Amino acid sequence: MLDTVKNPQDVNAELQRFRESLRQNVVALAAEMTLRNKMNARKVEALCAQIDMSVREYSTILLRNNTARVAEEAAAATQADVLDIRRAWGVVSARTNLFRVELNQWNMMRDLVRTQVTQSRKRVPLYDSRQSETTRSQISASDDVFDWVHAILNTVKQTEEAREQGGFPDIALPNSKFHRHLHAAYRLLLAKGQTARMRFLDVGCGGGLKVLSALRYFKEADGLDFQQSYVDIAQALLESAGATASNAFHADALTFDGYGDYDVIYFYRPIRDQEKIIEMERQIVDQVSEGTILVAPYVGFGARHADLGCGRVAGHVYMAKTSQKEADRWRRMAEQTGVAVVHSEEERVPTIWTPLLEASRQSGYDVKRYVQPV
Ligand SMILES: C[S@@+](CC[C@H](N)C(=O)[O-])C[C@H]1O[C@@H](n2cnc3c(N)ncnc32)[C@H](O)[C@@H]1O
Repeated sequence: MLDTVKNPQDVNAELQRFRESLRQNVVALAAEMTLRNKMNARKVEALCAQIDMSVREYSTILLRNNTARVAEEAAAATQADVLDIRRAWGVVSARTNLFRVELNQWNMMRDLVRTQVTQSRKRVPLYDSRQSETTRSQISASDDVFDWVHAILNTVKQTEEAREQGGFPDIALPNSKFHRHLHAAYRLLLAKGQTARMRFLDVGCGGGLKVLSALRYFKEADGLDFQQSYVDIAQALLESAGATASNAFHADALTFDGYGDYDVIYFYRPIRDQEKIIEMERQIVDQVSEGTILVAPYVGFGARHADLGCGRVAGHVYMAKTSQKEADRWRRMAEQTGVAVVHSEEERVPTIWTPLLEASRQSGYDVKRYVQPV
């Protein structure tokens, strides 16, 4: 750091150096966060202490810059000179003040780091079995409302053709159960470090409400259905929600040949006929790559998954072409992630903290500003 500043150019140069040195510490801290249970807590503490010091030092720098500017103005010979000095300092003052606003977020970031240090030796199960009677009752009421919405959105009856083909009509899996499975699948993707592309498919999407809901977790979500009138409703729903990265399309789950394009495949027993559903399960598993996440919340798949070469990770979440031993290993890794389901960040302006935020979010941790007060 400069001991004294003489003019706005000095201040600008100093700000660049200050920012770069802070950025290096933030990047180092972010790298530790990506190590999860293997992070070095002492190194993290030391980096936090250095950032603490930098943030404090910045207040002193701002004060000193202000003093330099006031002194320069006081020494000006004319009012025109004063205006020139103010103009010259204007841009740099705005920059330094804006950076102050960024630095003010450090307390929030430090909390985010500390949470990860505290949690790094703990495991959070993919399915939480503890639920109070009150919470259960509220969830059940919310599920009922979702069932109403589901019925309002899709009033079309199953066609004769679809019924004869052996499929079920559009019967919804309860909303809360869907979220439990998707949350587990999401954490599993985090554990696999697979956050750049997260493509979800609902096989037998009906009116599309599950496809829309999946967008809260995954960047891309599609749905296919045998019945064209359901597909039309699902597509209209996605369009009205502005879900441009999503599609509902017509396909038969038995002959569809694009399963390999997806990372998470959800199928809630679309087909009634026993032989056909087994055929569909085989189609899916054959086409996908090793480790593809399958969410199959029905008893039949639970009984058949091992014969199909899938490992059960937890609950109704499975991994294709994966041994049970491997699936257990992935479950343990997924339990080491945090539980935050990150909001899309694309529209946000990057700040000095962006590397730290990104690393934390990729581990399932986020700043607390999204938590609604009760
Ligand atoms: C039990 S509902 C599931 C609805 C939704 N996925 C959910 O979880 O709430 C089954 C859906 O699968 C569709 N379906 C049945 N047979 C199918 C097939 N062979 N190919 C594609 N979709 C099929 C039905 O039209 C129906 O919309």
